[in-house]
Amino acid sequence: MKLIFATNNDHKVKEIRYAIGDRFELLTLKEAGIFQDIPEPHATLEDNATEKSTTIYNLTGTSCFSEDSGLETDALDGEPGVRSARYAGDGRSSDDNMDLLLDNLHGISNRRARFRTVISLIIDGNEHLFEGVCEGRIAGSRQGEGGFGYDPVFIPEGSDRSFGEMTLSEKDRYSHRAKATAKLVAFLNNLQPKPGI
Ligand code: IMP
Repeated sequence: MKLIFATNNDHKVKEIRYAIGDRFELLTLKEAGIFQDIPEPHATLEDNATEKSTTIYNLTGTSCFSEDSGLETDALDGEPGVRSARYAGDGRSSDDNMDLLLDNLHGISNRRARFRTVISLIIDGNEHLFEGVCEGRIAGSRQGEGGFGYDPVFIPEGSDRSFGEMTLSEKDRYSHRAKATAKLVAFLNNLQPKPGI
């Protein structure tokens, strides 16, 4: 089965390819010859994921999925949430986002947080949503340099190491994206093979 993964984020592609295995032929936007940036204008991860998958499905007619993820902290009322990529402002780096998060949590003992991923799959014109959540906490400072985004400051429940200190396979055991992808794969595995897919 051929599936377009509607993202330009190489880190996400690496993680999803790892989690999804080789049963499906996964094409990135670049590999599908699509070079446009898809906006994420909505207030929820679900709406942004839907916008991205719908845009690509309407453009290509090929089964596709997208994902939108965010980091939610309890002490900051769920921030940065859907604004995780742009927390410190448009065009700012992951380092800027982490600095702002650590500043905003400075002196606060409640470090509880979670990563949430929503995947929107469009197959035969119908949408299916899959969610993955990884509970954890925000470290006092960066730990490790691996991964991307907020990985160095996020410590998943059940570990004392941050995502930034983990290999791809270690992160996969905990991650929100891996959990949402496992649901996507289970759904795809249950589909009867249909001609043309
Ligand atoms: P989006 O899903 O492309 O909107 O990305 C949301 C932002 O959340 C990313 O730019 C990262 O900063 C952050 N993010 C999403 N998933 C992860 C992750 O697995 N590790 C670290 N940061 C992440």
